[in-house]
Amino acid sequence: MCGIIGCAASRDIVPDLLEGLRRLEYRGYDSAGIAVLNGGRIERRRVKGKIRDLEDHLRSSSVAGPCGIGHTRWATHGRPSEDNAHPHTDCTGTLALVHNGIIENYWALKERLRAEGHVFRTETDTEVIVHLLENHYNGSLEEAVRRTVAELEGSFAVACVSHREPDRIVAARNGPPVVIGHGSGESFVSSDITALLQHTRRVSYLADREIAVLTSSGVRCTTFAGEPVEKPVEVLTWEAEMIEKKGFAHFMAKEIFEQPDVVRDSLKSRLSLESGRVFLGDAGIDPKIFRDSKRVVLVACGTSYHAGLVGKYLLETLGRVPVDVEYASELRARDFTMDRGTLVLGISQSGETADTLAALRAVRDQARAVVAVTNSVNSTMAREADGVLNTHSGPEIGVAATKTFVGQMAALSLFALAFAQAKKTIGPEAVRPLIEELQRVPHKMETVLARAADIERVARNFLSCEHYLFLGRWINFPIALEGALKLKEISYTHAEGYAGGEMKHGPIALIDEGMTTLALVPRDRVYEKMLGNISEVQARGGRVLAVAFENDAKARNVAEEVFPIPEVHQLFSPFLTVLPLQLFAYYAAAAKGLDVDQPRNLAKSVTVE
Ligand code: M6R
Repeated sequence: MCGIIGCAASRDIVPDLLEGLRRLEYRGYDSAGIAVLNGGRIERRRVKGKIRDLEDHLRSSSVAGPCGIGHTRWATHGRPSEDNAHPHTDCTGTLALVHNGIIENYWALKERLRAEGHVFRTETDTEVIVHLLENHYNGSLEEAVRRTVAELEGSFAVACVSHREPDRIVAARNGPPVVIGHGSGESFVSSDITALLQHTRRVSYLADREIAVLTSSGVRCTTFAGEPVEKPVEVLTWEAEMIEKKGFAHFMAKEIFEQPDVVRDSLKSRLSLESGRVFLGDAGIDPKIFRDSKRVVLVACGTSYHAGLVGKYLLETLGRVPVDVEYASELRARDFTMDRGTLVLGISQSGETADTLAALRAVRDQARAVVAVTNSVNSTMAREADGVLNTHSGPEIGVAATKTFVGQMAALSLFALAFAQAKKTIGPEAVRPLIEELQRVPHKMETVLARAADIERVARNFLSCEHYLFLGRWINFPIALEGALKLKEISYTHAEGYAGGEMKHGPIALIDEGMTTLALVPRDRVYEKMLGNISEVQARGGRVLAVAFENDAKARNVAEEVFPIPEVHQLFSPFLTVLPLQLFAYYAAAAKGLDVDQPRNLAKSVTVE
């Protein structure tokens, strides 16, 4: 959580800090601030609220300078307030620092620093870092950072400045991501590449326990121990325009409509209809690993967990292998055991989710191999894994995951096919029709998205409904969970996802005219049972909306409204059934005038435990 940014140049960098913070706002948005080195002084501006509030504040209290740092916050220690907003300064006001992460030993440090006479002005854990810097500063900010990080326990990505060295920023990493941007006559540091794309596509990534010193003329990196580190510079392929709204009212809407292309990009060069084969060579997974694997464990959080459940059903059906899907936060709390023949997949859009990273680290010594399924191929998860399956979704700015979920399902579909191929649980003749069907999926998704106006009409008609039950069975059970999560997180409406078969074991007690059931009923192996669920709801006075095949007269008879989808192979129906649910949640939230892209209390990357 939280986004940090820094620029060192030979021009005014305040507009760049603000632009960078706007790009990072998805990481946290309860308060924001900047600190700029200006004529031998540190000028600091902070607000409670969003980046637009900071911009308003700067209009009446402007500041300029060639070197500075900025922060957008998701509160962990201390409520959102101007005082708790970063950057934080030391007692003398000559050092300023921004931080992403959590300092676990902050209380002991705070008591010690207070006893030494330091005055604390915030409720944050971060403030101890800047007072430690003050203690250690002796003419070199880099050395002060080196001595300071040696005293810290926990996770941190920090960037700091000193008024005595007005040309430089010093950054350090132990946990949360730090990306360095190499511009022409200017250098940048950020939590994420999306904040750098406006300036440069030449980037490098700070590893854990490394320090970077940035000036307008370049970047120098060392380890915490002081050894020089040569960082390879990578040239990004993402274009700056990929992070624009392109005429949509919200990023989430743009990202929903990009989904057919996400699936196309994911399938590109990985399928051959002629040979009936799937190629995942780009993931760097030795097919021998598939052959050796006796069990698969998928580890993830939130929406990525739901994609993992879809992956489980695909792998079970195609690869005939036992599969477990685990919440990362739960797995790491358990005494989890597995034998050496277990293949572990971590699924994470960001590749930086703290619980997922910790869970993968906890099991990696027991696993046959760990594969990262991620949209961030340079993330910590990707770097620590034995193989990386890129979900090819492009940058996702909306906090609610949509296109990255579909990208994960596409990657897992390919993975399941490749696994089955290696295990010989299905031959090329059986794979070929599945490949053909997968290739038809993007066009079918476009057909569903073309009916968005109908979904908007229904979402508006149901605005007064306060309770939803999302029901699905088998491969659409995870889609019921995902539909409920989307509605909850962006429209703040109570929604529960349930396996259809579980309804009669409890939730049926909730059914009355105030509860709307959204049922997923594609014609598949559990179709008749889902129709049974709908009848049970109707018999108790509940309202029913359904996602069903276009020509499904039975579904039309029993549901108040049907969101039609084209016929599709039962293994790939989640690509279509999820779309009306995403759109329903989006239009409900937009009609209520809510902040769709930045829902309250959430952050895109959950880099704290
Ligand atoms: O980056 P990750 O995929 O690891 O993130 C996992 C969850 O935090 C994320 O999916 C979250 O549930 C989203 N808000 C869902 O829209």
